[in-house]
Amino acid sequence: MANAAVSAGDSGNAVTRREFLFYIWGASIALFAAESAGLLVWFLIPKFREGEFGGAFTLPVGALPDINAEPANFAEGRFWLVNLDTDNASGQDRMYQANDETTAIKGVAAIYKVCTHLGCIYSWIPVNNRFECPCHGSKYRLDGRRIESPAPRTLDRFKIEALSDDKITVLAESPTIEMNNAEHYEPLPLPEGTAFLRIDTGAKKQGPEMELLCDFTGSCP
Ligand code: FES
Repeated sequence: MANAAVSAGDSGNAVTRREFLFYIWGASIALFAAESAGLLVWFLIPKFREGEFGGAFTLPVGALPDINAEPANFAEGRFWLVNLDTDNASGQDRMYQANDETTAIKGVAAIYKVCTHLGCIYSWIPVNNRFECPCHGSKYRLDGRRIESPAPRTLDRFKIEALSDDKITVLAESPTIEMNNAEHYEPLPLPEGTAFLRIDTGAKKQGPEMELLCDFTGSCP
């Protein structure tokens, strides 16, 4: 029978097939809407907490190494913090301006600790004043630029924000540069009044492809 009733007992309140399908359809829509709302809330809730890799790290500006000094290691955040100034006479054996760099390199950078070749963890080698990867021998300057391959590019960097002493007011954030059709983080010169740095390990940009530094010195293996 086309309009066969789905019995609700023997009373006259039988639910027709059409009504039954309508209720099922309505319930499905309600369920779908509830799932969508749940997903939206899940997306909006931050996945990473402050101080956990993938989230942000807030550090006092005193945690910065001296200008052109050896990098500060932040193992929990998987980054090195460096303080650069190629105009400063100190530490020139670690941080120097190469032939193709027309302006001084100044500011702080948070460098991801993973090699851009095949993802090994590289280290700072004090005796050689550079980062070196144990896997295939890539070498990087203090700011992460390649000295020797096989790494294909400069080390990746995280976004840094300079905060005032209320830890909320953002005075400046990592500038970006467009190079080889991609955007990269530049070192951040700290404005006056900077009391804290916020390093966002959820905001990473790849390092640019640049000429090997060993090409300028004729020391490439
Ligand atoms: S993974 Fe670092 S050089 Fe290959």
